[in-house]
Amino acid sequence: MRTEITSFCAVLVISVFSTSAATSVFGDVFAWGVSSAAYQIEGAWNADGKGPSIWDEFTHKRGGDNGDDSADGYHRYRDHVMHLKELKVNHYKFSISWSRVLPDGTISSRNNAGIEYYKNLVAELSSNGIEPVACLYQHDLPAALQKYGGWMNETTIDLFETYSRMMFTELGNSVKLWITMTSPWNDAFRGHGDGSFAPGISQPETAPYIVAHNLIRAHSRAYHAYKEGHPQGKIGIVLNTDWQKPAAAADTDAATRGMQFSLGWFAQPIFGNGDYPEVMKTRIDTSSPEGKSRLPTFTSQEITQNRGSSDFFGITKEMTLSVVDNNNNMPPSVGYMKDMGIRGTVIKSSEGDISDLLLWIKNTFNNPVIHMLDAGLSGCGTLYDEDRLQAMKQTIADLRTAVSRGIRLAGYFAAQLLDGFDWTEGYKVKYGLYHVEFGNKERLQKASARYYLTLIQHQGNEFDYPKYFVPEVIRQKNDFLRAKFPPDFTWGVATAAYQIEGGWNADGKGPSIWDTFAHDNRLAYSQTGDVACDSYHKYREDVQNVKRLGVSHYRFSIAWSRVLPDGRVTSLNKAGVDYYNNLIDELLANGITPMVTLYHWDLPQALQDIGGFQNASIADYFNDYARVCFEQFGDRVQLWITFNEAFVVSWLGYGIGVFAPGINSPAEGVYQVAHNIIRSHVKAYHTYDKLFKPHYHGKVGITLDSDWKEPATSSAMDRYAAERALQFKLGWFANPIYGNGDYPAVMKQYVGMKSREEGRNSSRLPVWSEEEIKINKGSYDFFGLNHYTTQYVVDNHDNRFTYEGDQDLYTKVDDCWPGSRADWLKVNPWGLRSLLRWIRDRYNNPPLYVTENGFGDNGELDDQGRISYYRSYTNEMLKAIHHDQCNVKGYMAWSLMDNLEWTSGYTIKFGLYSVNFTDPNRPRTIKESGKFFTQLVHDNGYN
Ligand code: GAL
Repeated sequence: MRTEITSFCAVLVISVFSTSAATSVFGDVFAWGVSSAAYQIEGAWNADGKGPSIWDEFTHKRGGDNGDDSADGYHRYRDHVMHLKELKVNHYKFSISWSRVLPDGTISSRNNAGIEYYKNLVAELSSNGIEPVACLYQHDLPAALQKYGGWMNETTIDLFETYSRMMFTELGNSVKLWITMTSPWNDAFRGHGDGSFAPGISQPETAPYIVAHNLIRAHSRAYHAYKEGHPQGKIGIVLNTDWQKPAAAADTDAATRGMQFSLGWFAQPIFGNGDYPEVMKTRIDTSSPEGKSRLPTFTSQEITQNRGSSDFFGITKEMTLSVVDNNNNMPPSVGYMKDMGIRGTVIKSSEGDISDLLLWIKNTFNNPVIHMLDAGLSGCGTLYDEDRLQAMKQTIADLRTAVSRGIRLAGYFAAQLLDGFDWTEGYKVKYGLYHVEFGNKERLQKASARYYLTLIQHQGNEFDYPKYFVPEVIRQKNDFLRAKFPPDFTWGVATAAYQIEGGWNADGKGPSIWDTFAHDNRLAYSQTGDVACDSYHKYREDVQNVKRLGVSHYRFSIAWSRVLPDGRVTSLNKAGVDYYNNLIDELLANGITPMVTLYHWDLPQALQDIGGFQNASIADYFNDYARVCFEQFGDRVQLWITFNEAFVVSWLGYGIGVFAPGINSPAEGVYQVAHNIIRSHVKAYHTYDKLFKPHYHGKVGITLDSDWKEPATSSAMDRYAAERALQFKLGWFANPIYGNGDYPAVMKQYVGMKSREEGRNSSRLPVWSEEEIKINKGSYDFFGLNHYTTQYVVDNHDNRFTYEGDQDLYTKVDDCWPGSRADWLKVNPWGLRSLLRWIRDRYNNPPLYVTENGFGDNGELDDQGRISYYRSYTNEMLKAIHHDQCNVKGYMAWSLMDNLEWTSGYTIKFGLYSVNFTDPNRPRTIKESGKFFTQLVHDNGYN
């Protein structure tokens, strides 16, 4: 008996607890929605009989961005409903394009295709359990009506009523929640006062008042028309306003006046006493000609009709303004702004603003039921939109406060479903919970969308959102770190032989594959490296320039065919050896430590003639060459890099052939080449390790390049795809050398799977023997990393059987990342920190040198873009060292000076020094970035 009682109590306790945990201040029947507007997302501006609206005409005349195609909602509404479902919203507010259903605005022009579209949309919503909220009008008046004055003409009121009645008939059985119009203030003032909205009329004295008058009357007509036939349904209006706070106590009246002139203008007739606010009537009257107020008057019948003509108060809060009284300082022209007599300055919205605004509405307009339509925070459209997420979080907190203050809140509609056309800003600013890639119209869920759907699951209660919604590195991107690098941190600058030396056939040098490629006119403007920066002759000056930067290290590469003209040890060229001896001696004499790359892409042509890196014996040739270098220079060089960017050699050189030697073998050759590069590296590493390290105590590593790959969305599939992308790009080489000695498991899996799909009986990815795995593993003394940029990764089935297709993904960049002169290089500093953490975690935090990092421009001396690049990227590296304990030993800027940027020739410049390539003397001049870098090195961090 006793136990039974206890367990009964326990059940009771649990159930009480669980209901209270699930209880939401917003109540059980709260509308969680998202909003959109026809012109902003539909596109299809003239499809299937649609007539032009004033926005079509306005944007076509203005030029620039328009809503012609936008997010193509007209064709993709099913996708949109799917996204609404993902969000788990129960309401969707959309607007109907009047000229899609009535092309010229009148009933005689009825367009069934347009009506069908909205019926389909509503049916799709209903069948997915989402309540449609249809708005009859959001700024897009049929252009045909504008010819007769549009909203300046009273007839438009009748036409609006007729149009509304038709839509009630067509959709009235399925749509139970209507909005007559959204943000009519925009039509009145922006459309007819300052002219920033369609129809672009700027007559602030009278036009806004007439337009508002007609809009209010049109609204109340539609309201009553609906109520006649649908007493159960709900219909209301959505008004937009700034929240206006007095700057000082003396400005309290001014702020209230501001609210009355913007919100009260429409709200007082509809939610108040049916007429305009007293303050508007008096002030406008005073400055109007005797007996002819610029503010129209409602008849007493209209006042009755207006009053209470909305079942709910829809509100959109835009900015927060700090308001001062400006009665005596307005420009002489009469008009709406002067009538209002305030000056508002936009200030940061703070917590409490929304709840204060709602309280003001409650107190001023008889405590109406409220739907909040979030105006949202605009941004450049980043996918990890943490600021927008935070703004939404603040809004919701504010709404909870509002409810506790007795405000009757019935719904919240987030802004907006999709990135779309913003009225005044076009596509420059983005409000979407979903990113839209205009052109291919792809949609990606932003962090704010993730946040919103989780918020809905929590019924609007507070919760801690999972960290992966916005990864830590991104959250901290704006926290500039003022700190020092470790005292033994190494600073340097980098170059490569073919890019700077020139002297392509001087003193016995043999041709390399890049000489051949360039002479074959494969570079921009048929440029070549024949002379380049002429460092073959000017190396002494270069050393002085390195020295002037205050760095301790110089990374350069040896041209294999200068030392061994035909690639084989038998062809040893003394002049070539002398050149590098001189350079090394000059560096040491100036206190600079050399870091030498053995292979920076310039294979002796003679070795390409026997297959280059597709020939397995290349490993022996490379090993012999490396041994020669160790013998000749090893007494003075202690930092060796076997290969620069094994990926680029494999993919660009032998996969798609856009780089020398220009071989096209994207399915098989690319993997063989990579395999042989790794074999070459491993061999040379062990040669040094066995024969030279005991005497010289130097270090050998390889330089691998990798962009950072961030999942485009926080979905598990995209996160897995991003990991896969990194494994295919960096892990391909790093896992054999720095990891377990083998290719990454995911590569073996995917290339194997794709090879089978293709009908092969073995994988295109070569296999390492047990023996090889043993010698691969740990064949390094340090990790060399070249890093420049980031991409987002989206999981995506790819049916190509190539190295790229094998990965089943595609990549894209963020709208907010600044570009550079190189189309592949977008500036995203936090990518470096993310990548360093990834390497730390995958390869046991190896000692690492960033062996290249830099920014390409046109070569200007005042290169602010490069300064900001170096500043932000090195700061992220500093965070990786301080916050993440990444074992970063040094950093080499790419590049010492402007040079031959491979197939881009001399069109893209990366230098800290500029080089004048039209002057035979190739004079060098330090750039502003060179000075910045000198300071950074000097300070060894940021003070
Ligand atoms: C790297 C390469 C350098 C330099 C840089 C800028 O991939 O190693 O030689 O050209 O890119 O594009």
